[in-house]
Amino acid sequence: MSDFVSSFWSYLIIAISVGGIVGLFFLLRSNNIAGSAEPTGHVWDEDLVELNNPLPRWWLMMFDATLVFAVVYFAVYPALGDFKGYFGWTQVGQYEDEVKEMEASTAPLYAKYMATDIAVLAKDDDAIKTGGRIFQSYCAVCHGSDAGGAKGFPNLRDGDWLYGGTPADIETTILHGRQGAMPPWRAAVGEEGAENLAAYILSMGGRKHSDGSAAAGKATFDAMCAGCHGMNGEGNTFLGAPNLSDNIWLYGGSKRAIMASILDGRNGNMPAHADFLGKEKVHVVSAYVYSLSQK
Ligand code: HEC
Ligand code: HEC
Repeated sequence: MSDFVSSFWSYLIIAISVGGIVGLFFLLRSNNIAGSAEPTGHVWDEDLVELNNPLPRWWLMMFDATLVFAVVYFAVYPALGDFKGYFGWTQVGQYEDEVKEMEASTAPLYAKYMATDIAVLAKDDDAIKTGGRIFQSYCAVCHGSDAGGAKGFPNLRDGDWLYGGTPADIETTILHGRQGAMPPWRAAVGEEGAENLAAYILSMGGRKHSDGSAAAGKATFDAMCAGCHGMNGEGNTFLGAPNLSDNIWLYGGSKRAIMASILDGRNGNMPAHADFLGKEKVHVVSAYVYSLSQK
């Protein structure tokens, strides 16, 4: 694909580059190649004359060598406008070759890791270091460099899991991704209903709330929410419905944040990494994540 909107620019660059080399060549030839050792006619202080000496040969040859180098470079590498060079070299190609080389050299190690249980890998210092590096490169943007999470991005070190914390659960999450689906309830319960629900949820965690609203909230909760969040708000790792009674919050535990979750719903998305990272790297980073909550 051309980098230019119009091929005019490509030709302009070719003209300037080639013209530059040809121009330099003739400039050099037209200036004193042979020289004449004759006086130029410039005289200072009565008897100091300027001679028209030739340029030193070694200097000229070096200059010519740079021109030859430029011509060879233009032929081999993509330097002239849209011309790709005769050997098809590209930065991307070189990068991909290097990546392939790297992968070939680490393949035996990953094969060994792949054959090891995550629970065992989680105690292997080298595997955990590798997993930690993968985590910093691909996961820290969302989960934080200490895996401590942020609003909407779960903490992965606290032993509290939306989708389960067994090695198999964690690996499944990372391989295939997860889509949190908390429907919005504004139409069904309204502001007041949400306030009552929030009071009831606060009461589950033993926090300050108004008893009257909490009682009203409990009736709605049992009817509309318990199916996913459990009769006592204990959550459901199969659906990714968070435990609402433990004071660990994905989207915030203030009355306002809880009401916002209820009224407008929440849809956290953990992207799938199977195709993108490959199952070996996912296996190793799973061991790293698992190790975080085992301390
Ligand atoms: C684009 C942001 C993003 C990236 C990148 C990302 N995650 Fe996630 N991850 C999330 C979100 C959001 C959730 C919660 C999904 C939900 O709300 O249902 C999540 C959930 C998880 C969970 C489940 C936590 C639980 O409590 O069950 C694990 C484990 C996890 N991520 C690990 C990783 C690892 C390891 C990586 C890197 C390979 C990674 N994530 C990369 C956003 C991300
Ligand atoms: C279809 C299943 C389902 C139903 C029904 C449901 N929820 Fe949820 N709820 C979820 C899921 C899944 C999440 C997590 C969303 C995410 O990961 O992005 C969630 C998240 C929440 C949160 C945020 C928790 C946090 O840690 O920040 C609150 C609060 C909540 N739900 C309350 C309710 C209430 C109240 C009801 C009833 C009116 C309800 N939910 C009904 C599935 C459900």
